[in-house]
Amino acid sequence: MTDKPPGTKYPETKILSRNFGVPESWTLKVARERGAYANLEKALREMTPDQVIDEMKKSRLRGRGGAGFPTGVKWGFVPKDSDKPVYICCNADESEPGTFKDRYLMELDPHLVLEGCLIAAYAVSAERIWIYVRGEYPGSIARLEQAIEEATAANVLGDKILGTDFSCDCVVHSGAGAYVCGEETGLLESLEGKRGHPRIKPPFPAVEGAFGCPTVINNVETLSHVPWIVEHGGQAFADQGIGPDPDDPKSMGSSGTKLMGVSGQVKHPGVWEFEFGITVRELIYDYAGGPLDGRKIKAVIPGGVSMPVLLDEELDVKMGFDDLVKAESGLGTACAIVMDDSVDMVEACENIAHFFADESCGQCTPCREGCHWIEKIFRRINAGEGTEADLDLLEHLFPQIEGRTICALAEAAVWPVRSILVKFRHEFEAKLVKTPVGAS
Ligand SMILES: Cc1cc2nc3c(=O)[nH]c(=O)nc-3n(C[C@H](O)[C@H](O)[C@H](O)COP(=O)(O)O)c2cc1C
Ligand code: SF4
Repeated sequence: MTDKPPGTKYPETKILSRNFGVPESWTLKVARERGAYANLEKALREMTPDQVIDEMKKSRLRGRGGAGFPTGVKWGFVPKDSDKPVYICCNADESEPGTFKDRYLMELDPHLVLEGCLIAAYAVSAERIWIYVRGEYPGSIARLEQAIEEATAANVLGDKILGTDFSCDCVVHSGAGAYVCGEETGLLESLEGKRGHPRIKPPFPAVEGAFGCPTVINNVETLSHVPWIVEHGGQAFADQGIGPDPDDPKSMGSSGTKLMGVSGQVKHPGVWEFEFGITVRELIYDYAGGPLDGRKIKAVIPGGVSMPVLLDEELDVKMGFDDLVKAESGLGTACAIVMDDSVDMVEACENIAHFFADESCGQCTPCREGCHWIEKIFRRINAGEGTEADLDLLEHLFPQIEGRTICALAEAAVWPVRSILVKFRHEFEAKLVKTPVGAS
């Protein structure tokens, strides 16, 4: 991990973001001058598909879409003898609130995204790449479509790529604005033209995905890491960031770099790239400028809105998969949402609960009913009509929802609000109906 001299800022590392800010970085001409598709060529000419997968496993790259699953392991699940076509699906739904990192990649370096998808396609013998982009990102869709057109004309995409036997095309599919379509199997249903209802797993998409065919689904940022890993080798990637915990045989650590964002009540919201190891405090205070003048930070959700909150005094934890779990939160999308002391936490909970109730697809009873119950109870408390029994009811409700549904949206609906209720209980109690002394 990078050594940081005392008193200096944790340094930015530019692997994914090396072309951000370069004029016309999204054009094939500029991208190729800066090395685009050289690693695709290296993979096609010098490596077998299995060697590419081995490098991915060595890199210990973990998915950047939120769940942190090891990418090389996922690629290894694709059956080698499939008589059906194999697909790569790039998850560009970026639907998590407060998250806007994939957008930077698609708009500023679409050829990097495409090159990562193509190397992945070569590794698992896929013949088509689907890029599922959220419909609210017309700029990303336009840049990707332009990149596909240019790449096809230059024969780095399409038939017999770069004169080899490998052929692969790419289709951009625009979503229609549902959060649950970012969940990988909801995404597949939507891609197939149906309602975005997540599927029961197994079968996992790597075995039975889009249109019943083996499909590797990875996040935009995950796939954008692939060219660098092919260029430098998996070990060079694994040597960066936070290594596995030697006392925990299950720990995978957090290797490589990560795009990290900050939004909410800070002076300079934005996205930066760091080797894993920066603390939440360094990210928020040194890069996002800290709280607005005269304000104090009250709570931070480290990754999107779906993770438990941290208090200001808890921010010295590293932005890493395992570190944040140990701190009883989670990395999620690594795009932090900051709330300052002007925020009413009961109102914040009502707002968060409304989002999840609105986005639940309705298939599972605990999620469909539970999310609405949570929202109603917070609304009641916020309106000054709640009672102590409502707080007990919430605590009773949460375990009836999490872990009992098809997809993780239900957990995402519980985790942030439960942590807020625990850490800011006094704010909820202050809004409860006051029972007159002597009343029973
Ligand atoms: C409700 C919900 C929404 C999700 N939204 C996204 C999303 O917008 N983008 C994304 O990459 N992953 C999202 N995920 C995670 C995906 O299901 C999946 O884990 C990910 O695309 C796998 O890619 P990775 O291994 O590269 O992270 C979401 C998961 C859930 C439960
Ligand atoms: S958990 Fe919620 S969003 Fe996910 S499948 Fe069930 S009802 Fe739909």
